[in-house]
Amino acid sequence: MAIRIIRKGEDQALRQKAKPVTQFGPAIHKLLDDMAETMYHADGIGLAANQIGILKRLVVIDVAPNEDSFAKRAWIELVNPEIIAREGEQHEREACLSLPGLSGIVERAAYVKVRAQDRNGEFFEIEGRDLLARCLQHEIDHLDGILFIDRLDSMDDLREASEDEIAEEAALS
Ligand code: NI
Repeated sequence: MAIRIIRKGEDQALRQKAKPVTQFGPAIHKLLDDMAETMYHADGIGLAANQIGILKRLVVIDVAPNEDSFAKRAWIELVNPEIIAREGEQHEREACLSLPGLSGIVERAAYVKVRAQDRNGEFFEIEGRDLLARCLQHEIDHLDGILFIDRLDSMDDLREASEDEIAEEAALS
């Protein structure tokens, strides 16, 4: 595993649409491993491949990371994820590892069902509510070059905050 550099701000990779993964094998496994290590290292709860400059439809998520042991950590890997159902709405504060210091209130579906492939290409479905639903939508947006600041309820909500404040009120992804 290796920690990759997280692209930030105006980096072009954050604004491009990632391409579907068609070849499953060691290269994708290594990328997913690196993405997980990079996410944990940055204290994030989610990471999309665009954020490390790779334009492939890959996401890792862990909304409840085990703080004690990397070996006990269990993250979700999503290859070519697609939202196939959504219900309700929520308005919560979001932040992003690629936009350090910023947070804002974003409207998201309260529940989503996502269809994706695992690292070996097998299809599966995952459902999420609340924080997991928010994270799924935030990360899948990344794959389409969309950032949370594009979906703010109001620009007035966009806030520059210290890292401590963000850790308290809005998880980074
Ligand atoms: Ni993000």
